[in-house]
Amino acid sequence: EKDGHDYFMLKEIAEQPKAVADTLLGRIDGSGVLSLDEVRISGEVLREVDKVVIVACGTAYHAGMIAKYAIEHWTRIPCETELASEFRYRDPILDRRTLVIAISQSGETMDTLMALRHAREQGAKVLAICNTNGSTIPRESDAVLYTHAGPEVAVASTKAFLTQLVACYLVALYLAQVRGNKWGDEIRDVVCELAAMGEKVQEVLGTMEPVRELARGLADKNTVLFLGRHVGYPVALEGALKLKELAYMHAEGFAAGELKHGPIALIEDDVPVVVVVPSPRGRSVLHDKIVSNIQEIRARGARTIVIAEEGDEAVAPYADHLVRIPRTPVLLQPLVASVPLQVFACELATARGNEVDQPRNLAKSVTVE
Ligand code: M6R
Repeated sequence: EKDGHDYFMLKEIAEQPKAVADTLLGRIDGSGVLSLDEVRISGEVLREVDKVVIVACGTAYHAGMIAKYAIEHWTRIPCETELASEFRYRDPILDRRTLVIAISQSGETMDTLMALRHAREQGAKVLAICNTNGSTIPRESDAVLYTHAGPEVAVASTKAFLTQLVACYLVALYLAQVRGNKWGDEIRDVVCELAAMGEKVQEVLGTMEPVRELARGLADKNTVLFLGRHVGYPVALEGALKLKELAYMHAEGFAAGELKHGPIALIEDDVPVVVVVPSPRGRSVLHDKIVSNIQEIRARGARTIVIAEEGDEAVAPYADHLVRIPRTPVLLQPLVASVPLQVFACELATARGNEVDQPRNLAKSVTVE
C-alpha cells in the first residue's frame, strides 16, 4: 500500500506530479481558457464579488496566504486570509458580495467548518476547496472545487497542499477570466505555465538526494529558521511547520523583511537558515533585497541553505548549500519551492528516529474546536 516507500509521506511526496496534473485535468482547455462550470457560482455573482476572504488552518492556511497574492494581483479584488480559528471571534465584516473560500484537505476540520457557517449566516457565498468527496465542509458550502490529490494518509500534508495551491490558482485565474481585466495576456501565459507544473514538480523530485544528505547532517541541531518574501514567505512558514510536526524541532518562518525588526537576534554561529529566494525575473527588487538578507545573516555566522531558481547566479556566493528549482512565473514558485522543504523535514525526522507518518500528539483531521 506504500508502493515500495518506507512511509506514506514519502509515497505522497512522490505522487505530487500526478496530484497536480489530476487537479488541473479537464479544467484548462487547449487554448488556455479555464472551464470551472463545476463550481456552479454564476458569472453574474462572481462579477459582483467585491471582497474575498480565505479561511483555513495549518498547511491549508499557508495555501490560502499564497492565494491572496495571486487573487489580488490577477483580479484586483481585495483579499484577506485568516486562520479559521480566529476569524469567527473577531466579528468579521461580510455581506452578499463577499466570497469566502474555505480550504480543507479533510473537509472535516471543525475550526474551518465553524468559520464557514458563520460566513454563510452573514450572507456571504462560500466556496470550498477540498480533497474529500462528500465531506462536511463541501456539503455545507455553496460551491466546491475538489482537489484531486487522492487519499492523503500521512498526518503531515504534502500532496494535498500542492493541489490546494493549484485549486487556488485556478479560482484566481477563473475570477480574472470571468471578470475580464487588463492582465489578459499575462493570465493566458500563466495558465499555460500552470498546465505544465506537474512536470516541473517531477523535475524537482529528481534532484532531492543532496537535500536528504543535508537534512541527515542537521539531525542534532536544535533550531532551524526559514526566511522568504512575497509568496516565499508562506512557503517558509510551511517549511517550518513541517519541521515542527515531524522533527519536533524549534523551527520558525519569517518574512525576510522582518529580520531587522527582531529575528536577526536569533542568528548565531552555525544556525541553519533556509532561504526561499524569489525569482530574479519579475519582481527583481525583492530578489535583490533577499540577497542582502542572505549576506547579513551569513556575516553573523548562519549556515545558509538557499533555495533559488536555476540561472540565479547572484545568490551562489552566499549559499553554504544551494538547492536549485526550475524557473517558474513568480506567483507559481511555491509549487516547486515547497517540495525540497517537505523532503528536508521528512528526512530530518527520520534521522532523529521519529515516526514520520504519525507524529506525536497530532491527528490527521482535527474535528474539535
Ligand atoms: O484537513 P485540513 O486541511 O482542514 O487540515 C488543516 C490542518 O489541520 C492541517 O493542514 C495540518 O496543519 C497538517 N497536519 C499540516 O501538515
